[in-house]
Amino acid sequence: MEEITGSVLVVDDQDWARTPFCSYLRYHQIHTFEASSYEEALVRAEIPDLFLVFADIVLGDGNGLDLMEEIKGKYPGVEVVLFTGRGDLSLGSEALRRGAFFFLSKPFELETGLLLTRRAWEVRSWRTAYETLKTAVTGDQVIEIMRSLAEAVDAKSPYTRDHSERVGCLARRLAREINLPEKEVETTYFGALLHDLGKMGVPDSILNLEDTLDPTQRAQIQEHTILGEKILAPILALQPLRPILRSHHENWDGTGYPDGLAGEEIPLPARIVRIADSYDAMTSIRPYLKAPMTDEEALLKIAEKKGTFFDPDLLDAFLGMMFRTL
Ligand SMILES: [Fe+2]
Repeated sequence: MEEITGSVLVVDDQDWARTPFCSYLRYHQIHTFEASSYEEALVRAEIPDLFLVFADIVLGDGNGLDLMEEIKGKYPGVEVVLFTGRGDLSLGSEALRRGAFFFLSKPFELETGLLLTRRAWEVRSWRTAYETLKTAVTGDQVIEIMRSLAEAVDAKSPYTRDHSERVGCLARRLAREINLPEKEVETTYFGALLHDLGKMGVPDSILNLEDTLDPTQRAQIQEHTILGEKILAPILALQPLRPILRSHHENWDGTGYPDGLAGEEIPLPARIVRIADSYDAMTSIRPYLKAPMTDEEALLKIAEKKGTFFDPDLLDAFLGMMFRTL
């Protein structure tokens, strides 16, 4: 879990509701400031590293919805979670419509508040990296940010630590094995490194289920291909990677997603990543596998899918390369 270095502000005019939550956040090493009124909240909101405000909708000297708009107007990166004890559910949709990060009814579970804080921090870190990427000028900067994005994706699940980097290295080896020009080798490597970028938009709870997904959750996971491509769309330097992110779950026989492409309609680097990704998933610990397969077991399993999941010629090259080094 990434350390939270920003500050949180909790606004509530009722001490009994505010104080325990603030203590709880502080106990979890989160810098927490408190305010008991609208006016005090505005002063406190000037804290430079503020990233999240929890505010009661009913304040003695004003309304939490207005406070949210005023704070977000002045500090656009700050998220606001609103809550109310009045039990008026229509306030929830209004709060979200006007830009709240989340809406809670009071009293809320302290842990819920903590989890929301972590989620908001994740969104904040992600947004900062993304903004930097859009304006990055040098190749080195772009590469550094791509690595941190890949790490952020892997960090979403305890089962995927370093998965992106491993898939990147394996895809690069395979691209070299089939003598792709060095420029395309590089594109394949970076596409592989970021192949699951779209998983930033899939809730962690679903990512860790995989095998027991219902159809809606499955569709949500599959969306990561389209989402990943969309995320790269505004970044000029990374245009060549977009087809890899979109098509790395397409199957040679046309049964994959999201577009059901078949054969050579699937971009070659995406076919490479498909193999490297599958191999790495089989040989690492996953929630839905009792134990990771050995290298030999994984290669045999992959060989069974020749011509169905995987490009047959490419698979031959991969198996040759892997068996050579076993
Ligand atoms: Fe994927």
